Amino acid sequence: MLSVQENFPVEFSDALLAKFAEVVSRYPAGKQKSALLPILHLVQAEYGWLSTDAMDKVAAFLQIKPIEVYEVATFYTMYFLRPQGKYALEVCRTGPCCLVGAERIMKHIEDRLGVREGEVTADGLFSWRGVECLAACGYGPVLQIGPEYTFYENLTEESVDQLIDTLRNKAKEA
Ligand code: FES
Repeated sequence: MLSVQENFPVEFSDALLAKFAEVVSRYPAGKQKSALLPILHLVQAEYGWLSTDAMDKVAAFLQIKPIEVYEVATFYTMYFLRPQGKYALEVCRTGPCCLVGAERIMKHIEDRLGVREGEVTADGLFSWRGVECLAACGYGPVLQIGPEYTFYENLTEESVDQLIDTLRNKAKEA
């Protein structure tokens, strides 16, 4: 279960605030709350996750109560409420994937990365967590990596090792 991370102050840039305003302009006057989900995506793209302070400032911008932001941000699993690794591995842990080894894959990832679910590796590159059905039930075990939400299917311990090595090398080249 993820918890809301406290006290990470943010200051939205003018460029980000301009993007917020553009999103709000898509909705009728007085319906600015409708812009909440896309604005949270913009904030997450900027900072990598949603701190309490960031959510409070979104609430102030949209002139809604902070709880209205928290209840949305905690409902949808695509919003991160704590810092993530550069590569955030999300493994499906729903029944059909578990039947073909999802729990074994999660344990392997935990051992391989040396961090528990929700933690970030010391180099900042990786975090992982279990999520509900990713709608690729016939291809499990499956994981996705945001923000592009690239899918990796029919996972084995070997293919997970290859994936982690590939991502490590990609990060070195960047
Ligand atoms: Fe894993 Fe649906 S159960 S993708």
